[in-house]
Amino acid sequence: MRLENKVAIVTGGAAGIGRAICELFAQEGAKIVVADIEVDGGEETTRMIRESRGESLFVRTDVSVESDVQAMVEATKAAYGTVDVLVNDAAAFVFGEVQNITDADWQRVFGVNVIGQAYCVKHVLPVMKEAGGGAIVNIASVSGYIAQPAFIPYNASKGAVMQLTRCLALDLAPYNIRVNCVCPGSVLTQATELHRKFVGEDRETFLAEAANSNFMKRNADPREIACGALFLASDEASFVTGTPLVMDGGGTA
Ligand SMILES: NC(=O)c1ccc[n+]([C@@H]2O[C@H](COP(=O)([O-])OP(=O)(O)OC[C@H]3O[C@@H](n4cnc5c(N)ncnc54)[C@H](O)[C@@H]3O)[C@@H](O)[C@H]2O)c1
Repeated sequence: MRLENKVAIVTGGAAGIGRAICELFAQEGAKIVVADIEVDGGEETTRMIRESRGESLFVRTDVSVESDVQAMVEATKAAYGTVDVLVNDAAAFVFGEVQNITDADWQRVFGVNVIGQAYCVKHVLPVMKEAGGGAIVNIASVSGYIAQPAFIPYNASKGAVMQLTRCLALDLAPYNIRVNCVCPGSVLTQATELHRKFVGEDRETFLAEAANSNFMKRNADPREIACGALFLASDEASFVTGTPLVMDGGGTA
C-alpha cells in the first residue's frame, strides 16, 4: 500500500501504459482520477478499479485544452479533496519526416505532449502547494534523447518533456514537489500498432525488430513501466527529483 490515502490524477488513463498505472496505483491504495479524451476507455478503467474495490473517477479531458484541465482538477478536488500525485501520460503519436509535417501536426503533438503536461502541472500546483508537497511523473520516452527514422515530431516533443521535467524539478523543489520522468523503450500498446501501420510492416516483423533493439530481446508489458512510475510517485523516491528513469531493456545503454 505504497500510495495509501493518496489521490492520483493519471492523464491518458483510458488505455495502454496509463491504464496500467491507474490499476497499479489503485492496488497500492490511491484514489484515481482518470483524465482522458476517450470516454469509453476512461470509464472502463474506472469500472475495473471499482470492481477491485478501489476508488476512481473518470473526467473527460483534452489535456491540450487548458479549460478542460482546470475543470478536471476542480472535479478532483470536489471528489477527493486534494491531489498528491500527477502522472502526465497522455500523448499524441505523430510520426514522419520534416518535409511532410503540417502545422496542425506540430500544434497537436506539442499541444498534447508538452503544453498539455505543463497545463496539468499549472493547475495541480496550487493544490499541491496547499497540501505541502506532491509528486509529478511525466511519461517521456527513449525517443526524447535518441534519433529514430521518420520520428521527428514525436521525438522533438519527448525531448521537450525531458527538459520540462528538469526545469519543473528545480522550480518546484521549494514546495516539496518532486518531478521526474519515465523513459520507456518499446511497450506493447495501441500506440505500437499505430507506429507499425505508419511503417507499413507486418506485425511479426515489426515487433521482432523492436524486440531485437534491446538487450532483453523483447517488448515491455505496460505493467512493467507502471512499476517505474509507482516508485517515482511513492515516498520511496523521496530524494529523487529531476531524473529520467530509463526502462528500455538496455536498448539505449
Ligand atoms: N508504447 C510505447 O512503446 C511507448 C514508448 C515510450 C513512451 N511511451 C509513452 O507512454 C505514454 C502512453 O503511451 P501508450 O503507448 O500507452 O499509448 P496509448 O495510445 O495506449 O495511450 C495514450 C492515451 O492518451 C490518451 N490521449 C491522447 N490524446 C489525449 C488528449 N489530448 N487528452 C487526454 N488524453 C489523450 C489516449 O486517448 C490514450 O488513452 C505516452 O506518453 C507515450 O509517449 C510509449
